[in-house]
Amino acid sequence: MPKIVVIPGDGIGKEITDAAVRVLQAADKKFALNLEYEYHDAGGTAYDKFGTPLPEETVAACKASDGVLFGAVGGDKWDNVEPALRPEKAILGLRKQLGLYANLRPVKIADALVEYSPLKPELARGVDLVIVRELVGGIYFGERCESEQHNGVERAWDLENYSVPEVERIVRLACETAKLRRGKLTSVDKANVLATSRLWRRTAAEAAKAYPEVEMKNLYVDNCAMQLAINPAQFDVIVTGNLFGDILSDEAAVVGGSIGMLPSASIGTSTSLYEPIHGSAPDIAGQGIANPMGTILSAAMLLRYSLHEEEAALAIEQAVDKALAEGYRTPDLWKEGFKKANTAEITHVIVERI
Ligand code: NAD
Ligand code: IPM
Ligand code: MN
Repeated sequence: MPKIVVIPGDGIGKEITDAAVRVLQAADKKFALNLEYEYHDAGGTAYDKFGTPLPEETVAACKASDGVLFGAVGGDKWDNVEPALRPEKAILGLRKQLGLYANLRPVKIADALVEYSPLKPELARGVDLVIVRELVGGIYFGERCESEQHNGVERAWDLENYSVPEVERIVRLACETAKLRRGKLTSVDKANVLATSRLWRRTAAEAAKAYPEVEMKNLYVDNCAMQLAINPAQFDVIVTGNLFGDILSDEAAVVGGSIGMLPSASIGTSTSLYEPIHGSAPDIAGQGIANPMGTILSAAMLLRYSLHEEEAALAIEQAVDKALAEGYRTPDLWKEGFKKANTAEITHVIVERI
């Protein structure tokens, strides 16, 4: 029996993971997946209960599982706890401790949502790209100093470093991803300024040589941010470092109408973790109105990548598409003339279409 560890976390985390589990249960019924669920704490709620955002027991359970479904962590309530105990340390710690080096963030705009994009419909239509974000290195995990005196003034610093093997493995995975798609890879860096980016660029070029079927080009991150707004359909696979990937994926997400739609898979060498790209949305938490589709689509990715249940994954993705095509909209996407559905209602509509 495949065991899934569910970590709701904070804010809307419980609402969206409840929705995704309901959808997984429906897929289980249809495809006899025999899934088992185990719930664990992380984030601010874990800090309140145990004094740590990432209890050891949660990490151990994830390691022993066949896949992790993660909601979101964080919230204003914990803004003033010491940096090492912030809720965000839970997801950062899980990524590090589970070795989740590659974060796949697919951005595919459903036809029904083209008109919700802040971009003109002709620019948004047909967008189908994947951001492959390096997830356990770079400035996120370098040495840092919260505060020190330097020449009589207070300063803070964060160090960015990337090693050749770190860049090689993420670029290889991006090439493998591109090979199965349209064969176009864009490596994004800031090699005109940063040493880490220059190492990234030359290592990426070397690693990509093993994939003659993949055409790789380089783009500076500032230009990439602009290109995502003026012509996102030009991209197939984007590979980039931790910080640039974080920023570019939020930007790319709105092309699809709402950040609530975007799923992700964080791939490790053994267990992998699946989570929507958005956060705990404290401004709407507890109201039952969060868009659960990014989490539901993350659950589909879990079935695909961790359990190799392609048919069940597709059934979930198609059910989401159908719900949208039939005009159901969560409040973040609702407009006059469409059927407004809160978290529980859209989940029910999706479950019925599996
Ligand atoms: P956020 O993604 O939580 O919210 C940004 C905006 O998008 C808000 O207006 C929110 O209401 C809206 N939104 C997000 N998800 C939505 C959904 N599913 N349905 C409808 N609307 C949605 O980003 P933020 O406000 O910058 O961060 C809030 C907290 O979440 C912070 O503590 C941050 O550190 C944390 N965070 C956690 C993760 C994670 O757990 N992986 C990711 C990003 C941010
Ligand atoms: C994300 C989030 C996280 C990140 C935070 C919560 C640490 O923004 O998953 O995109 O910066 O990676
Ligand atoms: Mn982010």
